[in-house]
Amino acid sequence: MGAVINKQAFDVQAIRRQFPILSREIDGKPLVYLDNAATTQKPQCVIDALVDYYTTCNANVHRGAHRLADEATQRYEQARDTIATFVNAASRREVIWTSGTTESINIVAIGAAQLLREGDEVLVTQMEHHANLVTWQQACKRSGAKLVVCPIDENGELNLTAFGQLLNERTRLVAFPHVSNALGTVNPVKDLCQQAKAVNAWVLVDGAQGIAHEPVDVQDLGCDFYAFSGHKLFGPTGIGVLWGRESVLAEWPVWQTGGEMIATVTYERAIWGELPGRFEAGTPNIADAIGMGKAVEWFSALDMPAVMAHERALIESATEQAEAFEGLRIVGTARNKVGVLSFVLDEGHPADVGFLLDRQGIAIRTGHHCAEPLMGRLGVPGTARASFALYNTLEEVGALFTALQKVRNLLG
Ligand code: ALA
Repeated sequence: MGAVINKQAFDVQAIRRQFPILSREIDGKPLVYLDNAATTQKPQCVIDALVDYYTTCNANVHRGAHRLADEATQRYEQARDTIATFVNAASRREVIWTSGTTESINIVAIGAAQLLREGDEVLVTQMEHHANLVTWQQACKRSGAKLVVCPIDENGELNLTAFGQLLNERTRLVAFPHVSNALGTVNPVKDLCQQAKAVNAWVLVDGAQGIAHEPVDVQDLGCDFYAFSGHKLFGPTGIGVLWGRESVLAEWPVWQTGGEMIATVTYERAIWGELPGRFEAGTPNIADAIGMGKAVEWFSALDMPAVMAHERALIESATEQAEAFEGLRIVGTARNKVGVLSFVLDEGHPADVGFLLDRQGIAIRTGHHCAEPLMGRLGVPGTARASFALYNTLEEVGALFTALQKVRNLLG
């Protein structure tokens, strides 16, 4: 599966040159893009893959009796192989294309609603993104199961004692984020999976914020489902993956019905087809799957330990400067964090901070980050969130704090 990849030495400036948008200016100031938890920018090779697909071989997949259809199918399925290799799936049948993490989680939750019974419990955490919370609220509502929420502490770390205590023989499914989108907390995924499996629960990991920062080996992690998006991994929007353990997916109720997901159909009934097509009814997002495959190929060619060291340096520098910044409070101070610095200023609403940073060319996200209950838990209406990717530099981190000084002067 997949091509043999030669690792490139990590050179942040060489990486940046591959992302055309990073040389943009905002009102004459260099763009400092620190909104990577919302979406990452795309390297030229991904943009080229999309253009090339539409320019040379656009056709529907799996259906045609012509050359273009063959070529499109080949590229689309090759991209699936790339993903399977990337997450160390046991089989390409375990890789389901979706529109993104939200849809991936919904597929699992819609199926779970049919499998859960009254008295069953679904365990989530206080740090969920809405996509991994509202979905389970709905599944519980439909099935009569009970939603249980594991607490976090003031630093934004999962309370591991509570997690262990909340697991019991009624726990049928456990869902939690690899990395919190709002705080950057990295959860001990493997350990949590082991504990959940000890009570025979299914485990879903929301990998949206983890996949671009740490190597993911789904077999080693021990989960049943791992959900992630292309656009947070330097690929296109509108495409994502649900990885599911084959033995679990084989028994999971289908979520959408239609063309290409069946083995045979009569007027009265249908027999579902094999994995992975069973979960991919209708014409898929072919171009973006190919684009995501290219992004993963590009990402897989990087020296991951060097990428992680670079990203550690970014978050450490950001944290150090934030701690020294008068009137700034960091929201989320877990010991193991990646990619995210969330904060509030004594003077100024996060929305004003975001607006005034934008005037200086600095892009961040402000608000509740689709984690409204988490904000309530931490006693803030929202935060300003700077989020980093491997192409950010220490100079950009410095630029954020220089700009924040100006913001403080304006708001103070
Ligand atoms: N989930 C994305 C974020 O955290 C959109 O910004």
